[in-house]
Amino acid sequence: MSAGRDRLAKEYATDEIVVEWEPRLCFHSRNCVRSLPQVFDESRRPWVRVDAASADEVEAAVARCPSGALRTRRVGIPRANGNEPTEVCASAGGPLLVSGGVRILDADGNVLFEGERAALCRCGGSQNKPFCDGTHKTNGFRG
Ligand code: SF4
Ligand code: FES
Repeated sequence: MSAGRDRLAKEYATDEIVVEWEPRLCFHSRNCVRSLPQVFDESRRPWVRVDAASADEVEAAVARCPSGALRTRRVGIPRANGNEPTEVCASAGGPLLVSGGVRILDADGNVLFEGERAALCRCGGSQNKPFCDGTHKTNGFRG
C-alpha cells in the first residue's frame, strides 16, 4: 500500500445523514460526481457538501460508489445488518468489485478493511494493492 494514501476516514454530516469518506479506497470512477455534482466536486474544498441535496439523493448517489470509499448512515437509525450474500464481479477492464460484506486481510492476517464494498486490483498495476487505484485506466489493461 502506498504510504501517501490517507487511511483516515472523514465525515460530512447534516442532521439527517452522515457521509463517510475513506480516500484510500477510491479509484476515481467519478460515479459520485456524475450522480450528484452539487454535492460531490473534487475541485472544491470541502469536496463533499452533504447539505446541497436531500438525504435520499445523497444516499442514492453514494450507493453508486463501487469502491466502498463513500458510505452513508442515517442519523438515529441503526445500520442494517449486512445479510446480503457476498458477490465478486470482474468488471470489464477494471477491478474485482466485491459487495455484500467483505473483510480483507494482509498476508499476516491483519485486517486491512472491513465493510460492505471494495474494489480489488486485478490488473497488477495499483500502487495501493490489494485495492484498485484507477491505474487500469491508463496501463492498457483489457481483462
Ligand atoms: S470510487 Fe466512489 S468515491 Fe471514488 S470517485 Fe468513484 S464513486 Fe466517487
Ligand atoms: S484493477 Fe484498477 S488498478 Fe488494477
